Amino acid sequence: MPRCVLALDQGTTSSRAIVFDRRGRARGSAQQEFAQHFPQPGWVEHDPRDLWESTRRTALAALAEANLTARDVAALGLTNQRETTLLWDRRTGRPLHRAIVWQDRRTAGLCAKLKRAGLEPLFREKTGLLLDPYFSGTKLAWLLDHVPGARRRAGRGELAFGTVDTWLLWQLTGGRVHATDVSNASRTLLLNLRTADWDPELLKILHIPREVLPEVRDSSGLFGEVTSVPALRGVPIGGIAGDQQAALFGQACWRPGMAKNTYGTGCFLLLHTGDRPVASKNNLLTTIAWRLGGKIEYALEGSVFIGGAVVQWLRDGLGVIARSSDVEKLAATVPDNGGVYLVPAFAGLGAPHWDADARGIVTGLTRGSTAGHLARAALESIAYQSADLLGAMQADCGHKLRELRVDGGATVNNALMQFQSDLLRVPVVRPRTTETTALGAAYLAGLAVGFWKNRAEIAALWSADRTFRPSANPARVKRLRAGWQAAVARTKA
Ligand code: G3P
Repeated sequence: MPRCVLALDQGTTSSRAIVFDRRGRARGSAQQEFAQHFPQPGWVEHDPRDLWESTRRTALAALAEANLTARDVAALGLTNQRETTLLWDRRTGRPLHRAIVWQDRRTAGLCAKLKRAGLEPLFREKTGLLLDPYFSGTKLAWLLDHVPGARRRAGRGELAFGTVDTWLLWQLTGGRVHATDVSNASRTLLLNLRTADWDPELLKILHIPREVLPEVRDSSGLFGEVTSVPALRGVPIGGIAGDQQAALFGQACWRPGMAKNTYGTGCFLLLHTGDRPVASKNNLLTTIAWRLGGKIEYALEGSVFIGGAVVQWLRDGLGVIARSSDVEKLAATVPDNGGVYLVPAFAGLGAPHWDADARGIVTGLTRGSTAGHLARAALESIAYQSADLLGAMQADCGHKLRELRVDGGATVNNALMQFQSDLLRVPVVRPRTTETTALGAAYLAGLAVGFWKNRAEIAALWSADRTFRPSANPARVKRLRAGWQAAVARTKA
């Protein structure tokens, strides 16, 4: 009798694999980093072979660590960095180009051209997204334009496009399955949010032949079986979701008004909005959370570009700390921010501002400011940016949030979580398992094969490790947030 589900989490800087048991506990895990390629300023690429090889290796290593074999694995779930765009030859399986990563800005010109043509409202209305190089659609158009003969060959059905999930599924099934799930598809700028199918009008605008696109499926269901990795042969692939949606699922945020924030290099905040897409008036994205049993559930999403990365900057850019973990201690050397704010708009500002030209700023420095104040301001910037996102979300959907569930590396920082709760004035809840991205993929896969019976069974597995309750004086919070807003305004001057 199978004893576990294997989750593969292919992320932007590393691939991870985790084996989960029936109670949602990790039994074995492995992680591997891979090379980042920056061929020009603003361009970011991954080698598709690295994505597959690191995924394959970590899957085997996690299984070995758990001391299990394919026979113990009920299903495999896939989750992935989203929007990253690949194109390969269906016959040989060979990629035509390196993967263009979600952070890559090479299609800014094309996006600007489409905006000038007045097309943003149409894309917005149909896809819930903005005309920004972040999303896959213009990246695929770029590949079809720049790889010699690609558009013609794509039209003849010789090529396959995929986000990372689709590429890995293709590899796992030895090229038998060319499919994606709705959550990944909803990040392409090509999917109609309401029908969950490729939109002919948008395909026409971007000159993308339908023949190149994968089949769009439910996030939980049988995608195929592993054939290409002997040690995993026959394991059903039962679930796929983009990493942020998988984390929302792993946090059991299944009712309208439930939200999670993942604190990684950046932060990704998703709010479940139920069975209807909510159009944002505050520059957030409307996205598909997942589709189960043919029923679509939606979310609002906002992202902070520089979250935990601000700590890396303190370490590598300024050298004020030797290790990332030192930041908490340095920040604790001062009782408060001393009037210092750091807005880490190093790569512009994301939602709700979407200002690509904004740049970072430190305000409020005095002769008495110390490295401690800077560390504190850096940490607090993560919470301020997340609070701005949540404010925009609540304005959009009219729900008052009851709690925020959190995951990701920075959630070990108790002071940061407390400050987040103080700013939001809602409880911030850290679950026992903070590996919620992989867990979400495992749950989706396990549901497909009956390893878990239903969502109620899974919901019972979720439990809080610690709840941070708002304790700061509201007037003080108001003053702090006003200081932050003033600093943000100055990044745009
Ligand atoms: O939208 C991009 C996001 O999916 C990337 O996530 O965790 O790989 O940085 P991560």
